[in-house]
Amino acid sequence: PRAHIVLDKQAVVAPVRRRTFGSFVEHLGRCVYTGIYEPDHPSANDDGFRMDVVDLVRELGSTTIRYPGGNFVSGFRWEDSVGPRGKRPVRRDLAWHSLESNQVGLDEFAAWLKLTGSELMLAVNVATRGILPALDLLEYANHPSGTALSDLRIANGAPDPHNVRMWCLGNEMDGPWQTGFMSAEDYGKIAARTAAAMKMADKDLELVVCGSSGSGMPTFGDWERTVLEHSYDHVDYVSCHAYYQELDGDLGSFLASALDMEYFIDTVIATADHVGYKKRSSKKIDISFDEWNVWYLKEHQESEKSKEADNEWRHAPRQLEDVYTVADAVVVGNLLMTLLKRGDRVTSASLAQLVNVIAPIMTEPGGPAWRQTTFHPFSITSRLAAGEVIRPVIDAPTYTTARYGEASVVDAVATVDGDRAAVFLVNRDLTQSAQVTVDVRSLGLSRVLEALTLADSDVYAKNTLAEPLRVVPRANTGATLSDGVLTVELPPVSWSAIALG
Ligand code: AHR
Repeated sequence: PRAHIVLDKQAVVAPVRRRTFGSFVEHLGRCVYTGIYEPDHPSANDDGFRMDVVDLVRELGSTTIRYPGGNFVSGFRWEDSVGPRGKRPVRRDLAWHSLESNQVGLDEFAAWLKLTGSELMLAVNVATRGILPALDLLEYANHPSGTALSDLRIANGAPDPHNVRMWCLGNEMDGPWQTGFMSAEDYGKIAARTAAAMKMADKDLELVVCGSSGSGMPTFGDWERTVLEHSYDHVDYVSCHAYYQELDGDLGSFLASALDMEYFIDTVIATADHVGYKKRSSKKIDISFDEWNVWYLKEHQESEKSKEADNEWRHAPRQLEDVYTVADAVVVGNLLMTLLKRGDRVTSASLAQLVNVIAPIMTEPGGPAWRQTTFHPFSITSRLAAGEVIRPVIDAPTYTTARYGEASVVDAVATVDGDRAAVFLVNRDLTQSAQVTVDVRSLGLSRVLEALTLADSDVYAKNTLAEPLRVVPRANTGATLSDGVLTVELPPVSWSAIALG
């Protein structure tokens, strides 16, 4: 196939928002223990953090990191995870049927974020606790000093406030799997009251109310409307969560997953704005797309059923350790392009998750850490996307998908920052290369600075402990820029990034 794309520097969607490149660390499986934290590991620093993982997180370029869950947060008592380590209780985590040692808590995680250079986004437990524990956590985390809980933090070895700006009011409260899940009515009321109280402490907090756990939820749409009718005046974001996987051997539909993400975003914005108009409010609610990724959920659900007889409670078991393919990386790259494209209203996002658990980074206890296929499009986009997002005009053939109708074979987005630009492209064709021309005359640029493509003759190739560098991005040596036209060939099932200057 052939595609022609026009980039007009006037067609600005929004600034590139650094929070688009957020991620997520949940107390789940080996994300924390033997993921980011492993005191006996040869690379561990004095605080027990694996520095090989810190280096990879920095290279990944993740910005805001959501913590400590996820489903985990709905059974969490934050007080368990601070203070002298020897006194911290071991608790059962019902969400993931495992044991939580609480050896890493808020203060340790905040210290780890300093190493990675990321911002903390914290979730409070509204499911099984209440307003006061949320206010206590806020005081502990953010109050400078001179109150019971800020002084406790100082006594615990964290003299500076953590100054957390973004707070999630619970997690996936629409999901029957959530400990303490609620109806939209009940959740909307408790979220509104919790948010109002938190803003009495600090009116500038950025609060995220739970939207639907997926666009396929039976309550999708009504959930957002009802929750926002109660909480609109007190919150700043509504969350979206979406996971995709190849189903029934239908790779073509899977590669078009970004269409579902766009539909999801459009619908939530329409719903939020509808509530806003009804309230005659001039305020707009943005989207925090705070869980998104490829996840082989169907396989996990099936294996969970077969393990139902296994009632053991383990600490940091291997859970949700998906190993990603080239095709998965193309989808992840495309989803990230979509989040950039919708940066007018999607102003924060979190790839779920960061280490070992459906993650771009994998570790072996006592052994190495390595990059999954999905690491690459995220890391390269975080590094190259800057300035403003430009919505391209794409003229490309389409193909019919069973799940999402007609999909463009080629998708693209671009960013422009002064005398630099970056173009991100996918080719969804299963067998053929796409010949693409991009008219960049309006940008006034003359050189290809860097052209990288992620593709493989085996679209199911993966990086593993045995072969960690099986899939890496390669230079796309055919990319040329002449007379304001970029010409590039995109291999079948591929993701590419081209930097221009
Ligand atoms: O990211 C894994 C889980 O997916 C999270 O804990 C939950 O919020 C979602 O269902």
